[in-house]
Amino acid sequence: MKALEWMGNSLRILDQTRLPVEINYQLATTYEDVAKAIETMAVRGAPAIGSAAAYGYALGALQYSGEFEGVHDHMEQVKNRLAETRPTAVNLFWALRRMEDRLREQHGETDLAKIRQALLDEAETIAEDDRRVNRLIGEHGNPIVSEEANILTHCNAGSLATVEYGTALGVIRAAHDTGKKVHVYADETRPFLQGARLTTLELMNDKIPVTLIADNMAGFLMQQGKIDLVIVGADRIAANGDTANKIGTYSLAVLAQAHGIPFYVAAPTSTIDLKVPSGQDIPIEERNPQEMREVFGVQVAPADVPVYNPAFDVTPSKLITGIITEKGIVSSPYSVNLLKMMVRS
Ligand code: MRU
Repeated sequence: MKALEWMGNSLRILDQTRLPVEINYQLATTYEDVAKAIETMAVRGAPAIGSAAAYGYALGALQYSGEFEGVHDHMEQVKNRLAETRPTAVNLFWALRRMEDRLREQHGETDLAKIRQALLDEAETIAEDDRRVNRLIGEHGNPIVSEEANILTHCNAGSLATVEYGTALGVIRAAHDTGKKVHVYADETRPFLQGARLTTLELMNDKIPVTLIADNMAGFLMQQGKIDLVIVGADRIAANGDTANKIGTYSLAVLAQAHGIPFYVAAPTSTIDLKVPSGQDIPIEERNPQEMREVFGVQVAPADVPVYNPAFDVTPSKLITGIITEKGIVSSPYSVNLLKMMVRS
């Protein structure tokens, strides 16, 4: 199951809002289609959002039919529309910057077909890089997993959240593929249920043993000695290592520390935002209250109950044992080590 796939002149997006009950695909032919798919979370997960936005930008160029003089203004509109979809995952802005840089490199080029091709090539390269990077995250992370391990994960940081393979689930896949006996506890991840709906599905498809738990069960499992390791993904990592990830991640990190359990974040370097000094500066998305009042369209709370629905929280770096990237594992002191890693080619 692929989160997204380029079909030649459109982007095929697996609609993750209906999984695992329905397998529906959306065909995005305009940048507006892609923006809506990101907003509604048909496509979600930081690297997948970044890759989708890159294709959205390329679609923006493909659909342009005005005078050549207007193309740069049009592309600015395309970028702004895609950039306003979701605020937390920095991969979105990282990918759009790459696309803009590629457009800037076309300065002086007057053949629109060549500009379009260059942007499409860049979107393809971003997708290809993500495939490669996730495999490397798996390789680097594999040594932290013992021969037999019960691993807790939160949300979905798998192939559905990336172009392929996954980050946190990439590490788990690598461990499983090298013959380790891994068993995963998947948090259901209220309110969007990425753990219940997506992580379980992905792992079951790959025949990796998985058990679903409700979010509020993690502490009890740790107390019972049922968890050896926690691995989660990330949406934005600040320069000091503070990490924004799906709401509920912070609670897991506190619990892991209280029980002496290693807590790892797995993410590509495109998720690291050195411009943001600490977690306090990471914008946290708040989503529609209906996501809390309803589950799959079924009302579960009074229709008018006030709701607070932050989609992410921030785990302070002092609770993080290590950050697994495609360049290796970084640990404390993060302010020094993240910078060192980022300047290394
Ligand atoms: O709201 P979502 O589903 O986009 O949030 C996804 C997460 O929080 C993931 O853990 C994160 O993006 C990493 S995905 C490899």
